[in-house]
Amino acid sequence: MQFLDTYKNLFLDYLSANKFDKAPHNLYQPVDYILELGGKRIRPLLLLMAADIAGDKAVDALSAAMSVEVFHNFTLLHDDIMDEAPLRRGKATVHEKYDTNTAILSGDVMMISAYRFLENYEPKIAIKLLKIFNKMAIEVCEGQQMDMDFETREDVSIPEYFDMITYKTSVLIGAAIQMGATIGGLDDQSANHLYHYGKNIGIAFQMQDDMLDTFGEPKVGKQPGGDIIQNKKTYLYLKTLQLVSDSEKEELLVLYNTRPTDSSNKVARVREIMKSAHVELHSEEVKNEYKNLAFSHLDAVEMTDMQINQFRSFGEFLLRRKV
Ligand code: IPE
Ligand code: IPE
Ligand code: MG
Ligand code: MG
Ligand code: MG
Repeated sequence: MQFLDTYKNLFLDYLSANKFDKAPHNLYQPVDYILELGGKRIRPLLLLMAADIAGDKAVDALSAAMSVEVFHNFTLLHDDIMDEAPLRRGKATVHEKYDTNTAILSGDVMMISAYRFLENYEPKIAIKLLKIFNKMAIEVCEGQQMDMDFETREDVSIPEYFDMITYKTSVLIGAAIQMGATIGGLDDQSANHLYHYGKNIGIAFQMQDDMLDTFGEPKVGKQPGGDIIQNKKTYLYLKTLQLVSDSEKEELLVLYNTRPTDSSNKVARVREIMKSAHVELHSEEVKNEYKNLAFSHLDAVEMTDMQINQFRSFGEFLLRRKV
């Protein structure tokens, strides 16, 4: 998708012109490390696209695009501590490469820096951006807490799972688009529809993330089966419990009460039970429902067919992803 390459190049140039690279190096080196590890950059790209479509303001939106990417990467530093994850984008996580204290403090400075990138807007826009950003940032913390609480709960429901992923993941995607639309000068109601497009695509995106974690190839760049190891209450797990026989259900519950040092047998057996229940098909189906819901919000915004198609093809691309 050529239109995406344009936004990506714009963003990557801005990123390299805004390296953290300064003293104290033990604070800032890990920040550049994580930001330069790559990643898909979907949040800044969506923000730039929204600003461009709304008012030809992609360049003006670069600082906000940086803000959401720095914020996203901050959440990854802390998330990887919480999830005890050794790998991120195929490389050592920050707490593994450096140490946990580093990942905490470098994460903190990233979070504050994310705000700094919003200082560059005139007060009328800045206050709107801050309101969107603050609501989102608090919700992400709430979602992360639910995710952690669910690890040790046996009675998590599927609606609770959707609340959890809405907060931990999808509100940031929605907020990024809403911020771009705001910078582009779109009216609040239309910007809100774009937020809901992003939020629902984000839910489908997290479902895909969960599928890749459990069934994806090593090129995903994260520890394969990490969610199973951590007893994460994903849709795959919760739906499988509904689909299998009583004895397999019992077995799954027992497996999800353990944290063996060598997790290979546990991961293999959980995958086997999930596969036998064809849970991936169910997950795909629900994922598509969220995608369609996302797309329905695009029709409520005054845009050309070509602009709607840009959002649609970005959505399709995100949900087909293999990394
Ligand atoms: C990872 O997000 C965390 C989730 C919300 C699933 P991405 O899959 O966007 O990670 P990068 O930035 O592309 O590595
Ligand atoms: C990501 O959830 C949510 C946040 C980072 C806020 P995951 O824990 O599923 O993300 P990955 O799989 O580690 O990227
Ligand atoms: Mg994680
Ligand atoms: Mg997590
Ligand atoms: Mg994940």
